[in-house]
Amino acid sequence: MAGAARTVLISGCSSGLGLELAVQLALDPRQRYRVVATMRDLGKKGMLEDAAGETLGKTLTVAQLDVCSDESVAQCLSGIQGGDVDVLVNNAGVGLVGPLEGLSIADMKNVFETNFFGAVRLVKAVLPGMKRRQQGHIVVVSSVMGLQGVVFNDIYAASKFAVEGFCESLAIQLLQFNIFVSLVEPGPVATDFEGKLLEQVARADFPGTDSATLSYFHDLYLPASRELFRSVGQSPQAVAKAIVKVIGAARPPLRRQTNARYSPLTALKAADPSGRLYVRTSHRLLFRWPRLLHLGLQCLACGCPRGRVGPGEQP
Ligand SMILES: NC(=O)c1ccc[n+]([C@@H]2O[C@H](COP(=O)([O-])OP(=O)(O)OC[C@H]3O[C@@H](n4cnc5c(N)ncnc54)[C@H](OP(=O)(O)O)[C@@H]3O)[C@@H](O)[C@H]2O)c1
Repeated sequence: MAGAARTVLISGCSSGLGLELAVQLALDPRQRYRVVATMRDLGKKGMLEDAAGETLGKTLTVAQLDVCSDESVAQCLSGIQGGDVDVLVNNAGVGLVGPLEGLSIADMKNVFETNFFGAVRLVKAVLPGMKRRQQGHIVVVSSVMGLQGVVFNDIYAASKFAVEGFCESLAIQLLQFNIFVSLVEPGPVATDFEGKLLEQVARADFPGTDSATLSYFHDLYLPASRELFRSVGQSPQAVAKAIVKVIGAARPPLRRQTNARYSPLTALKAADPSGRLYVRTSHRLLFRWPRLLHLGLQCLACGCPRGRVGPGEQP
């Protein structure tokens, strides 16, 4: 391994994006990275180890890390060779969907504990070392839902909005220490994430929710959401590739959307600062014109709007 290899610590590598990113970085042909791929339950490390192949024990090591635990974070960092993290990737995350009235405050707090405070906890832990060495890169896997609210995803979107405000504010101070902050904002990605949400929905009966809201959720939102994943969903490989590019950039961007097919939907918000256009259009598409939404998603799936993608975005 090259002497100048950067140590990359990634949270949430038992599946999905974290797993794929860890393997892509470990396979870097120039061996620029020493990857510490972490997960909260080492009982799940089999899939990562299989995917890591010959990189295991060389450019990739596996370690335990629960982003909701101070002790776990401290123990993980103390086990890192040399003790320094050059690149931190906050990837661990959980979702939550459903009518607000039917969700418990405990479940909502768990989303913030993981998606927001989990990232904050890790950033706090690596910052002193990065500041001392006057270098570092903090990458946070946010979401397009960190840019725009999505119906029945109120709490998840709020947690990603929180992450966005945190990173945008911190980025200004940290530039003074030559530390970069990057928010990666995928649209839907074909990982276990959607399956876990659907399992959560299957188990929940959303107590206290009126029947009209429940029927909107089950009969309009869920089919549209499934179609969104099918039509504009990206592979974890494609999103991980975009993150690898962000990590390899000499001057990493603050924001990087990964899915050009999703950008017509995010553009609605940018087009109208009053927010009326985005809220009304989303409302009409879901509640009044679901067939048009279906056609629109089919159109996005065929890729025809790709020519109108803004600068800095990539398919
Ligand atoms: N999939 C999408 O559509 C999508 C879209 C935009 C953004 N994202 C974001 O992408 C990131 C990765 O998600 P994914 O799609 O790869 O889903 P995933 O396959 O469900 O992966 C989520 C990972 O986070 C881990 N995790 C959850 N709580 C944790 C904790 N307390 N400590 C450490 N790890 C924990 C999970 O571990 P366990 O196996 O132990 O649960 C799992 O490894 C998340 O931040 C998510 O919000 C996903």
